[in-house]
Amino acid sequence: MYPLRRNRRLRTNETIRSLVRENIISPNDFLVPLFVVEGKGVKEEIASMPNYFRFSLDLLEKEVKELWKLGLKSVLLFVKVPDNLKDNAGTEALNADGLMQRAIKTVKNAVPEMLVITDVALDPYSSFGHDGVVADGKILNDDTTAILAEMSLSHAIAGADFVAPSDMMDGRIFEMRTLLEDEGFYDTGIMSYSAKYASAFYGPFRDALDSAPGFGDKKTYQMDPANREEAIRETLMDIEEGADIVMIKPGLCYLDIVRDIKNAVNVPVAVYQVSGEYAMIKAASEKGWLDHDAVMMEQLTAIKRAGANMIASYFAKDAVKLIS
Ligand code: PBG
Repeated sequence: MYPLRRNRRLRTNETIRSLVRENIISPNDFLVPLFVVEGKGVKEEIASMPNYFRFSLDLLEKEVKELWKLGLKSVLLFVKVPDNLKDNAGTEALNADGLMQRAIKTVKNAVPEMLVITDVALDPYSSFGHDGVVADGKILNDDTTAILAEMSLSHAIAGADFVAPSDMMDGRIFEMRTLLEDEGFYDTGIMSYSAKYASAFYGPFRDALDSAPGFGDKKTYQMDPANREEAIRETLMDIEEGADIVMIKPGLCYLDIVRDIKNAVNVPVAVYQVSGEYAMIKAASEKGWLDHDAVMMEQLTAIKRAGANMIASYFAKDAVKLIS
């Protein structure tokens, strides 16, 4: 074919490159994770996540107004629960006046159009740091899904638009959907962490919420990084059970899975670029070993190219400021 076809013609300058570019990151792509703590005037940096913070409710309000101005229109809420409120069943998760429930209302009052997605899992509330009820060193599935359904309802009542179970118990989407329907919350969506791997990249997040498992690991519920077909099976089941959006987590190491799932389903696909992925880029660029902005944009673009319709990322603000 050469020289009739010279592929470099389409790379001659930035104008032609931008014309033929297949994937472009925009503010609409992002879900912004936010960590919330009790107190007033609190904005604490997370040690293993430079330039990322936990906010008390008053400063959360300021933060979401700023996000909205930047064009970031969806947030993913996580709460750091005081130790004295943690127990095996995560009782505090159902408190109508708990930190999550107040955080939902705070965001909705500050920016009514902001899409509020809440994390549904027991680990921040669990005295064992596990995503489920513990008995004899095991994580009980069905006892946990019953609580997760109640937790979803509590978030919906507080005003959440979407609930996002990040626990990986079997059957939780069905339990949650059924209870939400029974209670009239037809429009409350479910974004399922449908293919969530037992990853070592969650370390900084567990620092942020003080939610590391007190014993063992999460390998009896989160997926084995070696598996691919299982991710498709998990995701198809969650869709059958009523998930509106599915998610793959982490991002970078799992982009093959993202593409497989994108090709296998017809619902929107989210990808979570997790805390350890953020920490790696921050650490290497602090040392001057990587170009922070360039590596950040390359990874976000790769996630989108792999098939992500939306990306949960701690880089959302950095990226949007860079491209605006
Ligand atoms: C727990 C949860 C985790 C993350 C989101 N929800 C950690 C875990 O499973 O232990 C990790 C997010 C991140 O690392 O950025 N339900």
